[in-house]
Amino acid sequence: KKVVLAYSGGLDTSIILKWLQTTYGCEVVTFTADLGQGEELEPARAKAVLLGIKPENIFIEDLREEFVRDYVFPMFRANTVYEGQYLLGTSIARPLIAKKQIEIAEQVGADAVCHGATGKGNDQVRFELSYYALKPDITIIAPWREWDLRSREQLIAFAEMHQIPIAKDKRGEAPFSVDANLLHASSEGKVLEDPSQEVPDYVYSRTDDPVTAPDKPTVITIDFEKGDPVAIDGKKMSPATLLKALNDLGKLNGIGRLDLVENRFVGMKSRGMYETPGGTILLAAHRGIESITLDRGAGHLKDELMPNYAEMIYNGFWFTPEREMLQAAIDKSQEHVTGRVTLKLYKGSAWVIGRESPYSLYDQDLVTFEEGAVAYDHRDAEGFIRLNALRLRTLGQRKKKRGL
Ligand code: ARG
Ligand code: SIN
Repeated sequence: KKVVLAYSGGLDTSIILKWLQTTYGCEVVTFTADLGQGEELEPARAKAVLLGIKPENIFIEDLREEFVRDYVFPMFRANTVYEGQYLLGTSIARPLIAKKQIEIAEQVGADAVCHGATGKGNDQVRFELSYYALKPDITIIAPWREWDLRSREQLIAFAEMHQIPIAKDKRGEAPFSVDANLLHASSEGKVLEDPSQEVPDYVYSRTDDPVTAPDKPTVITIDFEKGDPVAIDGKKMSPATLLKALNDLGKLNGIGRLDLVENRFVGMKSRGMYETPGGTILLAAHRGIESITLDRGAGHLKDELMPNYAEMIYNGFWFTPEREMLQAAIDKSQEHVTGRVTLKLYKGSAWVIGRESPYSLYDQDLVTFEEGAVAYDHRDAEGFIRLNALRLRTLGQRKKKRGL
Protein backbone atom coordinates (compact mmCIF):
# COMPACT_ATOMS: atom_id res chain seq x y z
CA LYS A 1 0.00 0.00 0.00
CA LYS A 2 1.25 3.43 -0.97
CA VAL A 3 -0.35 6.76 -0.06
CA VAL A 4 0.24 10.32 -1.24
CA LEU A 5 -0.11 12.72 1.69
CA ALA A 6 -0.72 16.46 1.33
CA TYR A 7 2.09 17.43 3.68
CA SER A 8 2.70 20.95 4.99
CA GLY A 9 5.63 20.07 7.21
CA GLY A 10 3.70 21.29 10.24
CA LEU A 11 3.00 19.34 13.38
CA ASP A 12 -0.45 18.04 12.44
CA THR A 13 0.49 16.62 9.06
CA SER A 14 3.70 15.21 10.55
CA ILE A 15 1.57 13.32 13.05
CA ILE A 16 -0.61 12.13 10.18
CA LEU A 17 2.50 10.98 8.34
CA LYS A 18 3.64 8.85 11.29
CA TRP A 19 0.13 7.59 11.87
CA LEU A 20 -0.05 6.41 8.24
CA GLN A 21 3.26 4.59 8.62
CA THR A 22 2.41 2.96 11.96
CA THR A 23 -1.36 2.40 11.97
CA TYR A 24 -1.86 1.78 8.28
CA GLY A 25 1.59 0.34 7.74
CA CYS A 26 1.79 1.97 4.35
CA GLU A 27 4.56 3.57 2.36
CA VAL A 28 4.11 7.33 2.50
CA VAL A 29 4.79 9.73 -0.36
CA THR A 30 4.69 13.38 0.70
CA PHE A 31 3.52 16.24 -1.45
CA THR A 32 4.28 19.79 -0.37
CA ALA A 33 3.05 22.65 -2.50
CA ASP A 34 4.07 26.27 -2.56
CA LEU A 35 0.85 28.18 -3.07
CA GLY A 36 2.30 31.38 -1.72
CA GLN A 37 1.50 30.61 1.91
CA GLY A 38 4.73 32.38 2.81
CA GLU A 39 6.61 29.44 4.29
CA GLU A 40 9.87 27.92 3.18
CA LEU A 41 9.51 24.47 1.61
CA GLU A 42 12.95 23.04 2.31
CA PRO A 43 12.24 22.57 6.03
CA ALA A 44 9.32 20.35 5.01
CA ARG A 45 11.70 18.22 2.96
CA ALA A 46 14.16 17.95 5.87
CA LYS A 47 11.35 16.99 8.21
CA ALA A 48 10.02 14.34 5.83
CA VAL A 49 13.50 12.84 5.60
CA LEU A 50 13.77 12.90 9.37
CA LEU A 51 10.44 11.05 9.63
CA GLY A 52 11.79 8.31 7.39
CA ILE A 53 10.46 9.26 3.96
CA LYS A 54 12.72 8.14 1.12
CA PRO A 55 14.05 11.06 -0.94
CA GLU A 56 12.37 9.70 -4.08
CA ASN A 57 9.05 9.79 -2.19
CA ILE A 58 9.27 13.49 -1.41
CA PHE A 59 7.53 15.78 -3.89
CA ILE A 60 7.82 19.53 -3.61
CA GLU A 61 6.29 21.83 -6.17
CA ASP A 62 5.97 25.55 -6.71
CA LEU A 63 2.37 25.96 -7.84
CA ARG A 64 2.09 29.72 -7.46
CA GLU A 65 1.81 30.63 -11.14
CA GLU A 66 -0.55 27.77 -11.96
CA PHE A 67 -2.69 28.61 -8.94
CA VAL A 68 -3.16 32.24 -9.91
CA ARG A 69 -3.36 31.73 -13.69
CA ASP A 70 -5.66 28.71 -13.85
CA TYR A 71 -7.74 29.03 -10.68
CA VAL A 72 -7.68 32.52 -9.12
CA PHE A 73 -7.94 34.57 -12.33
CA PRO A 74 -10.68 32.43 -13.93
CA MET A 75 -12.65 32.82 -10.69
CA PHE A 76 -12.15 36.58 -10.64
CA ARG A 77 -13.50 36.86 -14.19
CA ALA A 78 -16.88 36.22 -12.59
CA ASN A 79 -16.34 38.71 -9.69
CA THR A 80 -16.93 35.73 -7.48
CA VAL A 81 -17.91 36.10 -3.85
CA TYR A 82 -19.65 33.59 -1.59
CA GLU A 83 -22.58 34.87 0.47
CA GLY A 84 -21.94 38.38 -0.75
CA GLN A 85 -18.46 38.77 0.73
CA TYR A 86 -16.07 35.81 0.92
CA LEU A 87 -13.48 35.83 -1.89
CA LEU A 88 -13.02 32.03 -1.64
CA GLY A 89 -9.27 32.03 -0.99
CA THR A 90 -9.24 28.59 0.63
CA SER A 91 -11.93 27.04 -1.54
CA ILE A 92 -10.18 27.80 -4.84
CA ALA A 93 -6.86 26.26 -3.76
CA ARG A 94 -8.21 22.83 -2.88
CA PRO A 95 -8.92 21.51 -6.39
CA LEU A 96 -5.34 22.28 -7.48
CA ILE A 97 -3.76 20.53 -4.49
CA ALA A 98 -6.05 17.54 -5.07
CA LYS A 99 -5.19 17.45 -8.78
CA LYS A 100 -1.45 17.39 -8.07
CA GLN A 101 -1.86 14.67 -5.45
CA ILE A 102 -3.69 12.51 -7.95
CA GLU A 103 -1.01 13.16 -10.60
CA ILE A 104 1.67 12.05 -8.16
CA ALA A 105 -0.38 9.01 -7.15
CA GLU A 106 -0.56 7.98 -10.83
CA GLN A 107 3.15 8.63 -11.26
CA VAL A 108 4.33 6.58 -8.27
CA GLY A 109 1.60 3.95 -8.50
CA ALA A 110 -0.04 4.83 -5.19
CA ASP A 111 -3.52 3.52 -4.45
CA ALA A 112 -4.47 6.08 -1.82
CA VAL A 113 -4.35 9.79 -1.02
CA CYS A 114 -4.60 11.49 2.35
CA HIS A 115 -5.40 15.02 3.56
CA GLY A 116 -5.35 16.79 6.91
CA ALA A 117 -8.78 18.43 6.88
CA THR A 118 -11.14 17.82 9.79
CA GLY A 119 -14.41 15.91 9.63
CA LYS A 120 -16.48 19.03 10.30
CA GLY A 121 -15.47 21.37 7.53
CA ASN A 122 -15.67 22.17 3.85
CA ASP A 123 -12.14 21.22 2.96
CA GLN A 124 -12.63 17.48 3.33
CA VAL A 125 -15.48 17.73 0.82
CA ARG A 126 -13.46 19.82 -1.64
CA PHE A 127 -10.44 17.53 -1.54
CA GLU A 128 -12.42 14.35 -1.81
CA LEU A 129 -14.86 15.44 -4.52
CA SER A 130 -11.81 16.45 -6.58
CA TYR A 131 -9.99 13.18 -5.92
CA TYR A 132 -13.00 11.12 -6.95
CA ALA A 133 -13.63 13.24 -10.06
CA LEU A 134 -10.05 12.77 -11.24
CA LYS A 135 -9.49 9.17 -10.15
CA PRO A 136 -12.75 7.33 -9.48
CA ASP A 137 -11.09 4.25 -7.96
CA ILE A 138 -8.89 6.13 -5.49
CA THR A 139 -8.81 5.20 -1.81
CA ILE A 140 -9.12 8.20 0.50
CA ILE A 141 -7.70 8.36 4.00
CA ALA A 142 -9.01 11.16 6.22
CA PRO A 143 -7.18 10.68 9.54
CA TRP A 144 -9.20 13.30 11.45
CA ARG A 145 -12.31 11.21 10.81
CA GLU A 146 -10.63 7.93 11.61
CA TRP A 147 -8.10 8.08 14.40
CA ASP A 148 -8.75 8.07 18.12
CA LEU A 149 -6.44 10.97 18.93
CA ARG A 150 -9.14 13.08 20.55
CA SER A 151 -7.24 15.86 22.33
CA ARG A 152 -4.18 18.04 21.97
CA GLU A 153 -2.52 16.04 24.78
CA GLN A 154 -3.03 12.78 22.90
CA LEU A 155 -1.63 14.33 19.71
CA ILE A 156 1.43 15.63 21.55
CA ALA A 157 1.92 12.28 23.29
CA PHE A 158 1.74 10.52 19.90
CA ALA A 159 4.25 13.00 18.45
CA GLU A 160 6.66 12.50 21.35
CA MET A 161 6.40 8.74 21.15
CA HIS A 162 7.44 8.92 17.49
CA GLN A 163 10.16 11.55 17.87
CA ILE A 164 8.34 14.17 15.86
CA PRO A 165 9.92 17.54 16.63
CA ILE A 166 7.43 19.90 18.28
CA ALA A 167 7.98 23.65 18.25
CA LYS A 168 7.54 25.16 21.72
CA ASP A 169 4.51 27.20 20.73
CA LYS A 170 2.82 24.08 19.32
CA ARG A 171 2.67 22.21 22.64
CA GLY A 172 -0.54 23.78 23.80
CA GLU A 173 -3.66 24.36 21.77
CA ALA A 174 -2.98 26.65 18.81
CA PRO A 175 -4.93 29.88 19.50
CA PHE A 176 -6.68 29.59 16.11
CA SER A 177 -6.44 27.71 12.81
CA VAL A 178 -4.89 29.31 9.72
CA ASP A 179 -4.99 28.49 6.04
CA ALA A 180 -2.92 30.71 3.78
CA ASN A 181 -1.94 31.06 0.13
CA LEU A 182 -1.20 33.83 -2.36
CA LEU A 183 -4.85 34.88 -2.45
CA HIS A 184 -5.62 35.03 1.25
CA ALA A 185 -5.00 34.08 4.83
CA SER A 186 -7.98 32.70 6.71
CA SER A 187 -8.30 32.22 10.43
CA GLU A 188 -10.97 30.20 12.22
CA GLY A 189 -11.68 28.50 15.49
CA LYS A 190 -10.68 28.93 19.13
CA VAL A 191 -10.47 32.65 19.97
CA LEU A 192 -12.64 33.42 16.93
CA GLU A 193 -15.47 31.05 17.80
CA ASP A 194 -17.66 33.59 19.60
CA PRO A 195 -19.07 35.75 16.78
CA SER A 196 -20.11 38.50 19.21
CA GLN A 197 -16.46 39.20 20.06
CA GLU A 198 -14.16 41.28 17.90
CA VAL A 199 -11.20 39.53 16.26
CA PRO A 200 -8.08 40.26 18.35
CA ASP A 201 -5.39 42.32 16.62
CA TYR A 202 -2.81 39.54 16.77
CA VAL A 203 -4.86 37.36 14.42
CA TYR A 204 -4.15 39.66 11.45
CA SER A 205 -1.05 38.74 9.46
CA ARG A 206 -1.59 39.94 5.90
CA THR A 207 -2.81 43.50 6.40
CA ASP A 208 -1.76 46.51 8.41
CA ASP A 209 -4.43 48.08 10.59
CA PRO A 210 -6.45 50.41 8.33
CA VAL A 211 -6.80 52.86 11.21
CA THR A 212 -3.04 53.49 11.29
CA ALA A 213 -2.47 53.08 7.53
CA PRO A 214 -0.83 55.99 5.65
CA ASP A 215 -2.73 59.28 5.55
CA LYS A 216 -1.79 59.70 1.92
CA PRO A 217 -3.63 57.56 -0.65
CA THR A 218 -1.78 55.32 -3.09
CA VAL A 219 -2.88 55.67 -6.72
CA ILE A 220 -2.25 52.75 -9.10
CA THR A 221 -3.30 51.56 -12.52
CA ILE A 222 -4.11 47.97 -13.45
CA ASP A 223 -4.19 46.85 -17.08
CA PHE A 224 -6.53 44.05 -18.12
CA GLU A 225 -6.52 41.77 -21.13
CA LYS A 226 -9.63 39.67 -21.72
CA GLY A 227 -10.65 39.96 -18.10
CA ASP A 228 -7.30 39.13 -16.54
CA PRO A 229 -4.92 41.66 -14.96
CA VAL A 230 -1.58 41.81 -16.79
CA ALA A 231 0.21 44.94 -15.53
CA ILE A 232 0.44 47.32 -12.60
CA ASP A 233 1.41 50.94 -13.33
CA GLY A 234 2.14 49.86 -16.88
CA LYS A 235 4.60 47.19 -15.80
CA LYS A 236 3.80 43.73 -17.19
CA MET A 237 3.91 40.95 -14.63
CA SER A 238 3.24 37.23 -14.45
CA PRO A 239 0.00 36.26 -12.67
CA ALA A 240 1.62 35.30 -9.35
CA THR A 241 3.99 38.29 -9.39
CA LEU A 242 1.08 40.61 -10.05
CA LEU A 243 -1.06 39.21 -7.25
CA LYS A 244 1.91 39.42 -4.88
CA ALA A 245 2.41 43.07 -5.83
CA LEU A 246 -1.27 43.82 -5.21
CA ASN A 247 -1.00 42.05 -1.85
CA ASP A 248 1.87 44.33 -0.86
CA LEU A 249 -0.08 47.44 -1.89
CA GLY A 250 -3.17 46.18 -0.09
CA LYS A 251 -1.27 45.30 3.08
CA LEU A 252 0.20 48.77 3.32
CA ASN A 253 -3.24 50.38 3.04
CA GLY A 254 -5.06 47.91 5.30
CA ILE A 255 -7.27 46.58 2.50
CA GLY A 256 -9.17 43.29 2.41
CA ARG A 257 -10.07 42.43 6.00
CA LEU A 258 -13.30 40.49 6.44
CA ASP A 259 -14.95 39.22 9.59
CA LEU A 260 -17.66 36.80 8.47
CA VAL A 261 -20.16 34.24 9.70
CA GLU A 262 -20.76 31.86 6.80
CA ASN A 263 -22.69 28.70 6.02
CA ARG A 264 -20.51 25.63 5.61
CA PHE A 265 -21.58 23.01 3.07
CA VAL A 266 -21.89 20.41 5.83
CA GLY A 267 -24.69 22.44 7.40
CA MET A 268 -23.27 24.51 10.23
CA LYS A 269 -22.47 28.20 10.52
CA SER A 270 -18.88 29.15 11.20
CA ARG A 271 -17.09 32.41 11.94
CA GLY A 272 -13.90 33.26 10.12
CA MET A 273 -11.60 36.16 9.51
CA TYR A 274 -10.16 36.61 6.04
CA GLU A 275 -7.43 38.84 4.71
CA THR A 276 -7.50 39.14 0.93
CA PRO A 277 -5.60 42.38 0.20
CA GLY A 278 -4.72 41.90 -3.48
CA GLY A 279 -7.95 40.09 -4.29
CA THR A 280 -10.03 42.91 -2.86
CA ILE A 281 -8.26 45.46 -5.06
CA LEU A 282 -8.56 43.15 -8.06
CA LEU A 283 -12.30 42.70 -7.59
CA ALA A 284 -12.87 46.47 -7.56
CA ALA A 285 -10.61 46.93 -10.57
CA HIS A 286 -12.23 44.14 -12.56
CA ARG A 287 -15.69 45.54 -11.96
CA GLY A 288 -14.29 48.88 -13.07
CA ILE A 289 -13.04 47.63 -16.43
CA GLU A 290 -16.20 45.60 -16.97
CA SER A 291 -18.31 48.69 -16.35
CA ILE A 292 -17.20 50.20 -19.66
CA THR A 293 -16.54 47.06 -21.73
CA LEU A 294 -19.43 44.73 -20.89
CA ASP A 295 -22.84 45.02 -22.46
CA ARG A 296 -25.68 45.38 -19.96
CA GLY A 297 -27.35 42.10 -20.91
CA ALA A 298 -24.12 40.14 -20.60
CA GLY A 299 -23.15 41.93 -17.39
CA HIS A 300 -26.47 41.38 -15.65
CA LEU A 301 -26.62 37.72 -16.66
CA LYS A 302 -23.08 37.24 -15.31
CA ASP A 303 -24.13 38.77 -12.03
CA GLU A 304 -27.09 36.39 -11.82
CA LEU A 305 -24.90 33.37 -12.49
CA MET A 306 -22.19 34.41 -10.08
CA PRO A 307 -23.72 33.24 -6.76
CA ASN A 308 -24.32 29.86 -8.35
CA TYR A 309 -20.75 29.66 -9.57
CA ALA A 310 -19.47 30.79 -6.16
CA GLU A 311 -21.45 28.04 -4.48
CA MET A 312 -19.95 25.43 -6.81
CA ILE A 313 -16.47 26.54 -5.83
CA TYR A 314 -17.29 26.84 -2.14
CA ASN A 315 -18.88 23.39 -2.05
CA GLY A 316 -16.01 21.75 -3.91
CA PHE A 317 -17.55 21.12 -7.32
CA TRP A 318 -14.69 22.58 -9.41
CA PHE A 319 -14.15 19.51 -11.58
CA THR A 320 -17.76 19.24 -12.75
CA PRO A 321 -19.63 19.79 -16.00
CA GLU A 322 -21.76 22.52 -14.44
CA ARG A 323 -18.72 24.54 -13.35
CA GLU A 324 -17.09 24.10 -16.75
CA MET A 325 -20.28 25.21 -18.48
CA LEU A 326 -20.46 28.39 -16.44
CA GLN A 327 -16.74 28.98 -16.91
CA ALA A 328 -17.16 28.82 -20.68
CA ALA A 329 -19.92 31.42 -20.51
CA ILE A 330 -17.93 33.65 -18.18
CA ASP A 331 -14.78 33.39 -20.29
CA LYS A 332 -16.76 34.25 -23.42
CA SER A 333 -18.02 37.40 -21.70
CA GLN A 334 -14.46 38.61 -21.17
CA GLU A 335 -13.60 38.92 -24.90
CA HIS A 336 -13.57 42.71 -24.81
CA VAL A 337 -12.69 43.23 -21.14
CA THR A 338 -9.41 44.94 -21.95
CA GLY A 339 -8.11 48.29 -20.81
CA ARG A 340 -6.82 50.28 -17.88
CA VAL A 341 -8.32 51.04 -14.48
CA THR A 342 -6.99 53.67 -12.08
CA LEU A 343 -7.62 53.07 -8.38
CA LYS A 344 -7.14 54.87 -5.14
CA LEU A 345 -6.06 52.81 -2.13
CA TYR A 346 -6.65 54.42 1.22
CA LYS A 347 -7.20 53.24 4.81
CA GLY A 348 -8.92 49.95 4.14
CA SER A 349 -10.62 50.86 0.87
CA ALA A 350 -9.86 50.47 -2.82
CA TRP A 351 -12.00 52.36 -5.30
CA VAL A 352 -11.93 53.08 -8.99
CA ILE A 353 -11.23 56.67 -10.00
CA GLY A 354 -10.77 56.13 -13.74
CA ARG A 355 -11.22 53.54 -16.50
CA GLU A 356 -10.38 53.45 -20.21
CA SER A 357 -10.49 50.85 -22.96
CA PRO A 358 -9.99 50.67 -26.71
CA TYR A 359 -13.21 48.59 -26.74
CA SER A 360 -15.25 50.82 -24.46
CA LEU A 361 -19.02 50.90 -24.93
CA TYR A 362 -19.20 54.14 -23.02
CA ASP A 363 -20.26 56.91 -25.38
CA GLN A 364 -19.84 60.37 -23.95
CA ASP A 365 -21.55 61.91 -26.93
CA LEU A 366 -24.56 59.68 -26.28
CA VAL A 367 -24.83 60.17 -22.55
CA THR A 368 -23.99 63.84 -22.23
CA PHE A 369 -26.62 66.21 -20.81
CA GLU A 370 -25.28 68.79 -23.18
CA GLU A 371 -26.43 68.90 -26.79
CA GLY A 372 -25.25 65.55 -28.21
CA ALA A 373 -25.70 62.49 -30.33
CA VAL A 374 -28.13 62.12 -33.17
CA ALA A 375 -28.48 58.39 -32.29
CA TYR A 376 -30.70 59.36 -29.37
CA ASP A 377 -33.89 61.28 -29.85
CA HIS A 378 -35.36 62.54 -26.58
CA ARG A 379 -38.85 62.20 -28.01
CA ASP A 380 -38.38 58.40 -28.30
CA ALA A 381 -38.19 58.26 -24.52
CA GLU A 382 -41.79 59.39 -24.15
CA GLY A 383 -43.22 56.37 -26.00
CA PHE A 384 -40.70 54.10 -24.30
CA ILE A 385 -41.95 55.17 -20.91
CA ARG A 386 -45.64 55.15 -21.88
CA LEU A 387 -45.48 51.55 -23.13
CA ASN A 388 -43.58 50.44 -20.06
CA ALA A 389 -46.17 52.19 -17.91
CA LEU A 390 -49.12 50.54 -19.66
CA ARG A 391 -49.47 47.66 -17.18
CA LEU A 392 -48.74 49.91 -14.24
CA ARG A 393 -51.60 52.20 -15.26
CA THR A 394 -53.97 49.26 -15.73
CA LEU A 395 -53.03 47.99 -12.28
CA GLY A 396 -53.49 51.46 -10.84
CA GLN A 397 -56.96 51.71 -12.34
CA ARG A 398 -58.00 48.37 -10.83
CA LYS A 399 -56.65 49.40 -7.45
CA LYS A 400 -58.70 52.59 -7.64
CA LYS A 401 -61.86 50.72 -8.72
CA ARG A 402 -61.57 48.38 -5.75
CA GLY A 403 -60.90 51.24 -3.39
CA LEU A 404 -57.56 49.83 -2.24
N1 ARG B 1 -14.13 28.77 5.85
C1 ARG B 1 -13.18 28.87 4.79
C2 ARG B 1 -13.57 27.99 3.66
O1 ARG B 1 -14.30 27.04 3.88
C3 ARG B 1 -11.76 28.61 5.25
C4 ARG B 1 -11.47 27.21 5.75
C5 ARG B 1 -10.04 26.92 6.12
N2 ARG B 1 -9.48 27.86 7.04
C6 ARG B 1 -8.89 27.58 8.21
N3 ARG B 1 -8.47 28.57 8.95
N4 ARG B 1 -8.71 26.37 8.59
O2 ARG B 1 -13.17 28.17 2.53
C1 SIN C 1 -11.08 22.00 8.30
O1 SIN C 1 -12.16 21.46 8.55
O2 SIN C 1 -10.03 21.33 8.24
C2 SIN C 1 -11.00 23.50 8.10
C3 SIN C 1 -12.33 24.17 8.02
C4 SIN C 1 -13.11 23.86 6.78
O3 SIN C 1 -12.65 23.13 5.91
O4 SIN C 1 -14.25 24.36 6.66
